[in-house]
Formats: sequence, C-alpha cells, structure tokens
Amino acid sequence: MKVIVTSNKEIAGKEAFKLIKSAMDDGAKVLGLATGSTPIPMYKEMIASDVDFSNMTSVNLDEYVGLAPEDPQSYRYFMQSNLFDKKPFAETFVPNGKAEDPEEETKRYNKVIADHPIDLQVLGLGRNGHIGFNEPGSPFDVETRKVQLTESTIEANSRNFENENDVPRYAYSMGIGSILKSKKIVLMAFGKEKADAVKGMIEGKVTNDCPASVLQTKDDVTVIVDADAASEL
Ligand code: GLP
Repeated sequence: MKVIVTSNKEIAGKEAFKLIKSAMDDGAKVLGLATGSTPIPMYKEMIASDVDFSNMTSVNLDEYVGLAPEDPQSYRYFMQSNLFDKKPFAETFVPNGKAEDPEEETKRYNKVIADHPIDLQVLGLGRNGHIGFNEPGSPFDVETRKVQLTESTIEANSRNFENENDVPRYAYSMGIGSILKSKKIVLMAFGKEKADAVKGMIEGKVTNDCPASVLQTKDDVTVIVDADAASEL
C-alpha cells in the first residue's frame, strides 16, 4: 500500500488524476468510480483536462435502493452532474435504484463487472471504514448485493438530504470481492472525521470491522490523504 499525504484535497485530486492518466497510458479502458464529496476534486481535474474519455467505460460502486436516476440525491444523478455531462464516456454503469427485483439487479450488475473488468477503481472511505457501501462486518469475498446501511452512515450521508428520515436505508453495493478484482485501486480520504478509519485501514489489523483494512492484502493500492485524515498515523 503506497500512502501519499498532501496538504489539501485539491492537490490530492491532482495526484489521483495523474494515476488515472498513467493507467490510461498503459491501456486502461474501464474505470471504477465513486460518489461522495471525496472524489469531486479529482472529477474537476478530469473535466478541466484535455484528456478524452469518450472511449472509456465506467462502472460505479453503488446506488441507493429506491432512488430513480433523475432524483438529485441518487448516485446516478451525482455522476451525471459531477462528471459525465461534462466529460462524456463511451458507456457508464451505475446500479439501478429503481429495479423491481433486487436479486435480478445484483445479478445484472455482477455481469456488468464481469464483462468490463475494472482497470482502476477509485474509492472514498466511510467514517466507519466502509468502502462502497460495504459496512463493518461485510464479508471480504462477496460480489454486488443489497446492503442495509448503518446508523453512522445514515447520519453521515444525511447532510445531502433534507432530513435524516429521507436517507434510504438500503443500497446496492459492489462487494469487497468485486472491488479486490480491480487491477489497481486509488483510495482518497480527507478531513479529521476520517482519521480513525484511515489509521485502521493502514495500521490496524485486517478485519471486517474496518472493511478498508482488506486493502492491505492487495497489490497496487495507492492511498491519498490530506494532513487531517493522516493525523492519527
Ligand atoms: C458514501 C459512499 C462511499 C463514500 C462515502 C464517503 O457512503 N457510498 O462510496 O466513500 O460515502 O463519502 P464522502 O466522500 O462524502 O465523505
């Protein structure tokens, strides 16, 4: 695990974008993408650049169950407005929050991942150490599934909703097994509220109490954190 500490998230976004460009120079065709505030500086770099993504495919990590693509709180909407509408990709995949049959939807998404093996996966980090929506206790070997969000995640994510009751209680999430299949991983985390999870991920033992700690077991993982998120290391 390579750890890069930057003085702020804008510089971190530039560092992450460099890794994307170098993966693309080496032939990467599929990017695994993430939502949340963390990847926004990196998306801004992508948009401001002259790099052409129109031959690239993206596969997103997760989506809230129950939210339609046009719902401003949905992760599909987030991806459209923060990246795809400004930097077109050839194909973009996000789980369908409105799917009628959750089992069929998870099967469909697992086939999407199998058909588009991820060259570089971008990850944020939950305050409780989650990656995607793989909450503490998640097994390390599963694929996409419907998961129940923890109270801590509901509370953390309520900042994007009018009130906490509006936060969906379930999500579709790529499983840790699927995440670990990507060739390279770049995880970013910023701010004091991530410092404990960053410490657990890098220095703690590998345990599903801190799902991100599993990244210690994988080659080609780069962690980019700002000074606040690195403050417990
Ligand atoms: C959500 C997402 C995660 C993300 C996390 C952190 O729970 N499912 O993929 O990493 O939030 O969000 P933020 O980057 O806004 O701190």
